[in-house]
Amino acid sequence: MSCCSSVHGFAWLVLVHACFFAAAQAQQAARTDPTEVTALNAILGTWGLRASPAWNISGEPCSGVAVDETDVDNNPNINPAIKCDCSFNASTVCHITKLKVYSLNVVGQIPEELQNLTYLNNLDLRQNYLTGPLPSFIGNFSAMQYLAVSLNPLSGPLPKEIGNLRNLLSLGISSNNFTGELPAELGNLEKLEQMYIISSGFSGPFPSTFSKLTNLRILWASDNEFTGKIPDYFGSLPNLQELRFQGNSFQGPIPASLSNLTRLTSLRIGDILNGSSSLSFISNLTSLTVLYGEKLLL
Ligand SMILES: *[C@@H]1O[C@H](CO)[C@@H](O)[C@H](O)[C@H]1NC(C)=O
Ligand SMILES: *[C@@H]1O[C@H](CO)[C@@H](O)[C@H](O)[C@H]1NC(C)=O
Ligand SMILES: *[C@@H]1O[C@H](CO)[C@@H](O)[C@H](O)[C@H]1NC(C)=O
Ligand SMILES: *[C@@H]1O[C@H](CO)[C@@H](O)[C@H](O)[C@H]1NC(C)=O
Ligand SMILES: *[C@@H]1O[C@H](CO)[C@@H](O)[C@H](O)[C@H]1NC(C)=O
Ligand SMILES: *[C@@H]1O[C@H](CO)[C@@H](O)[C@H](O)[C@H]1NC(C)=O
Ligand SMILES: *[C@@H]1O[C@H](CO)[C@@H](O)[C@H](O)[C@H]1NC(C)=O
Ligand SMILES: *[C@@H]1O[C@H](CO)[C@@H](O)[C@H](O)[C@H]1NC(C)=O
Repeated sequence: MSCCSSVHGFAWLVLVHACFFAAAQAQQAARTDPTEVTALNAILGTWGLRASPAWNISGEPCSGVAVDETDVDNNPNINPAIKCDCSFNASTVCHITKLKVYSLNVVGQIPEELQNLTYLNNLDLRQNYLTGPLPSFIGNFSAMQYLAVSLNPLSGPLPKEIGNLRNLLSLGISSNNFTGELPAELGNLEKLEQMYIISSGFSGPFPSTFSKLTNLRILWASDNEFTGKIPDYFGSLPNLQELRFQGNSFQGPIPASLSNLTRLTSLRIGDILNGSSSLSFISNLTSLTVLYGEKLLL
């Protein structure tokens, strides 16, 4: 420490003391943003959950497995789980970046307090009994990359604010009770690579804005009430590897543009209403290993 060099006598002692004190402060464990501690406790309390002791050592949420290298995704014993980033304010402040409440029979709505976990980049609330809407404040999580609420009975329209999540890589909202159309704003998610919307309750046509989702690799969209033609632009989403379109109310024919999808490994398509579909495009899908085609009304 430079402040401790070139000093003598009594002044030296005083300075050593001061330096020691400063160093001790710098080494003090970073603490969780108090607003987030309050929010986290409120969320878990509302849902009748307690923090796993593995991450709530000494009442400080960003401790234990929340801050070490432990993989909490694949560990059923650490659930609920959080992960934190403690590099803020010169490594004195931790923000909660991940919240996992997976398959814990949680009953209730998504609480308001969740919006105070503003640094979340990963939210996993899959397989609970969450009712009510997916709140529009979901669009405020500007760092969000992985959003998963599949397997809940969430209802109401999908909030258009989801289109604000410009860093989103994966959206999982399958098996919910949503209503209405896919909001056009989803086309703003230009980094999106994975989208799971099987049995989500949606209806109406695919928005034309989806033509902008050029990073999309996986789209599972079976078992909704989608109508209209499968849009031609799917042939210009060059990274598509998995496409599931069964069990909707699409009109034929299937667009020949799909012949462009040379990276497609898995195609599940069916239940296409009136309109004979030529399937010759399939011969150009050189990466295809899985093909299900039912009720194509050829
Ligand atoms: C971290 O620093 C920022 C900016 O200096 C400040 O606004 C914020 O309140 C600090 N956060 C905490 C939890 O101390
Ligand atoms: C964490 O532990 C403290 C002290 O044991 C307790 O007061 C607090 O409620 C716990 N927090 C959660 C979220 O379970
Ligand atoms: C978020 O945190 C602020 C500051 O701690 C608090 O005033 C506010 O009520 C919280 N909002 C919600 C919805 O809990
Ligand atoms: C979330 O964003 C909306 C605007 O979309 C804003 O009105 C609201 O205050 C934001 N909430 C928080 C907690 O930042
Ligand atoms: C969800 O929708 C299904 C089918 O419409 C319905 O049977 C079920 O009762 C709904 N569940 C809830 C919790 O709303
Ligand atoms: C095939 O892909 C190319 C390059 O992505 C694109 O320019 C073209 O429009 C696509 N063709 C069709 C029929 O979608
Ligand atoms: C599809 O068939 C239905 C009933 O068979 C008919 O009412 C409708 O006009 C047809 N739509 C098209 C686009 O051919
Ligand atoms: C498949 O590719 C060949 C050669 O690239 C092309 O001539 C043909 O039109 C394509 N077939 C379809 C159905 O697009």
